[in-house]
Amino acid sequence: MLAMNYRGPYRVRPDFNKPYPELLHPGDAIVRVTRSCICGSDLHLYHGLVPDTRVGMTFGHEFTGVVEAVGSEVQRLKPGDHVLVPFNIACGVCPFCTQGLFGNCHESNPEATAVGGIFGYSHTAGGYDGGQAEYVRVPYADIGPEIIPAGMDPDDAVLLTDVFPTGYQAAEMGGIRKGDTVVVFGAGPVGIMAAKSAWLFGAGRVIVIDHLEYRLDFVRTYAQCEAYNFRSLGDPVLFIKKTTDYFGADVCIDAVGCEAAGSAMQTITGRKMLLQAGSATALHWAINSVKKGGIVSIVGVYGPTGNLIPIGNVVNKGITIRANQASVKRLLPKLIDHVMSGRVKPSDIITHRIPLEEVADAYQIFSSKLDGCIKPVLIPPSANA
Ligand SMILES: NC(=O)c1ccc[n+]([C@@H]2O[C@H](COP(=O)([O-])OP(=O)(O)OC[C@H]3O[C@@H](n4cnc5c(N)ncnc54)[C@H](O)[C@@H]3O)[C@@H](O)[C@H]2O)c1
Ligand SMILES: [Zn+2]
Ligand SMILES: [Zn+2]
Repeated sequence: MLAMNYRGPYRVRPDFNKPYPELLHPGDAIVRVTRSCICGSDLHLYHGLVPDTRVGMTFGHEFTGVVEAVGSEVQRLKPGDHVLVPFNIACGVCPFCTQGLFGNCHESNPEATAVGGIFGYSHTAGGYDGGQAEYVRVPYADIGPEIIPAGMDPDDAVLLTDVFPTGYQAAEMGGIRKGDTVVVFGAGPVGIMAAKSAWLFGAGRVIVIDHLEYRLDFVRTYAQCEAYNFRSLGDPVLFIKKTTDYFGADVCIDAVGCEAAGSAMQTITGRKMLLQAGSATALHWAINSVKKGGIVSIVGVYGPTGNLIPIGNVVNKGITIRANQASVKRLLPKLIDHVMSGRVKPSDIITHRIPLEEVADAYQIFSSKLDGCIKPVLIPPSANA
């Protein structure tokens, strides 16, 4: 079958002869993929920043498809079902899953003390092949996959596997109260959905910071928020303080993660010399521009090793930091309702629809932010099978 194949940093290619996945456990399903996105998280893999990313691996943790086969213990799914598959691989019964912490499952990854299992996300996250392929093995098939509701746009469905839930959880973890000023760092797919979600929690003012004008233009309209280019703000922290009567924002959301731009020191030590796990510039800004007693919500991804962050300011300002991988499964019922009611249309962020055969170009376009790219979707030949 056709699948994306990782060859090393900045090198991916289509593999036309990857063996078909097989049922390895009675709880597995095989899904024929119909859509598969590339995520900002895949860029961390593509750039060689995630430990134990092995050559030959197939990425892809945001996909929809049709159930092709199920193991003998699977009860909820049957061949022919159209499903969206959350990016977290979760057992559903461990002490973490039973608390709704599906992103922190203790069973789906041998490295479980570090992170739960994730499709196509290195051996650090379990070594599972992902959905940028024609077929994929889905473990714990009774737990994660959700049958796509009748009438749902399949493009909305694929964005329910990660991006909308992650943006929503970013806002939820911010503990937003009515009228709060919320600053979102990052106008990528996740930041855009976080800004949109902030209003659902009652924010009074939503400000998005990035440096890509085309994304700022998009989010201004899509999420009806203020949006500023940090390159023209001078010091973004000072700007946020000034615009909040020198109190600081009530809630700051880091939707950038470990490849942030904007600080030469962070970029050199974190991304060039690898002396820390990437550059934590956005997190710095979030901590320094939130008000005393405020909340910093982190969904941007950081590696397992350390970053230089101003922990003293966290202590002295009494900041609460909340962070996690999104718990997609827990959020789905609510978010499906938002989509079906028309309150949120996540698929508006899709800018590119690229055949899986052209996966190398797709990564380059998304990584280099070319051609106005916000969210690319890969369409495998199996979509038309
Ligand atoms: N926690 C989770 O469950 C989860 C799920 C999905 C994605 N993520 C992570 O969320 C982050 C964003 O994902 P995405 O798909 O939107 O990625 P993306 O790369 O498309 O977007 C990141 C955006 O941040 C902007 N940026 C760079 N430096 C900045 C700075 N200093 N301040 C403000 N903006 C800055 C970039 O210009 C870009 O628009 C990534 O780290 C990704 O790994 C986490
Ligand atoms: Zn993702
Ligand atoms: Zn579990």
